[in-house]
Amino acid sequence: MRIKEALNGAVKQFQQHAISDTPLLEASLLLSFVTNLTREQLYTHYEEELDPHQIASFHKALSFRLDHTPIAYIIGKKEFYAREFLVTPDVLIPRGDTEVLVETALSILEKIDGEKSVLDLCTGSGCIGITIALEHKEAKVTLSDISSKALHVAHINSISLDSPITEFVESNLFDAFDGRLFTLIVSNPPYIAPSWYRELSKDVLHEPSLALLDESEDGLSLIKSIISISKGHLHKEGSLVIECDYRQIEAVMKEFTFQGFNEVTYYTDLGNKRRLVSGRYACTKS
Ligand SMILES: C[S@@+](CC[C@H](N)C(=O)[O-])C[C@H]1O[C@@H](n2cnc3c(N)ncnc32)[C@H](O)[C@@H]1O
Repeated sequence: MRIKEALNGAVKQFQQHAISDTPLLEASLLLSFVTNLTREQLYTHYEEELDPHQIASFHKALSFRLDHTPIAYIIGKKEFYAREFLVTPDVLIPRGDTEVLVETALSILEKIDGEKSVLDLCTGSGCIGITIALEHKEAKVTLSDISSKALHVAHINSISLDSPITEFVESNLFDAFDGRLFTLIVSNPPYIAPSWYRELSKDVLHEPSLALLDESEDGLSLIKSIISISKGHLHKEGSLVIECDYRQIEAVMKEFTFQGFNEVTYYTDLGNKRRLVSGRYACTKS
């Protein structure tokens, strides 16, 4: 089987099973993974024969994808903020929209003089906190997650991307942070309500429910806890930035205000949906 036949065959199967909106891209990502050729090289080697081992690996990868396993889990990586992050089925696959959270955090940090301690709560693969640490050298970032398996992935990413992060904390929200204060807390927590969870695509259902599902009817129980408890973990005028669903934005902004945050602001994602809220807490602690 030649490279062009492998690619065309995979595209046809993806189309027949309505697997992807970008079948050629996915086919080339899988073939690039099994051949160790770049996607560009696949086209310059278009007429070349695959060896039997490559054909077997490609068929295996295809069968996973036809079973709706997300491509990032098959190839074990996902690009975020122009860096490659290891992903396993223990972590949420980083989303492009979450880069807006990073941008927002970076612009907050740029305006701060002095200590810049950052907590990435619910870190998963570590994509948010690690990117902040790499983009803003003065930031001292801590990564935390309730899942030890997710934290292990974040640790590997931190090392392989050469980040300066040294603190990885297994914790249910702020439980392990008694008495600790941060300049900035960022979080992309689980916020999918049970009724939305049932409607998710088969691809998304391969991701850990712990990373997606909030058991409360409106999906807001963890977000509300984070807003309320974070007040005790922020330095004076410290900021909290949280990602949520666009259908939750009004409720989340209301909760920030109700809990006494100032400058409550929303931000839109890449699809122009309101997905992010930040606020500043003028508490008396310092
Ligand atoms: C939506 S994922 C976000 C992952 C990553 N920050 C990102 O943006 O790609 C949510 C993460 O929260 C973690 N999590 C769920 N419940 C938690 C809790 N009570 N305390 C801390 N982390 C929790 C999950 O293990 C998961 O890694």
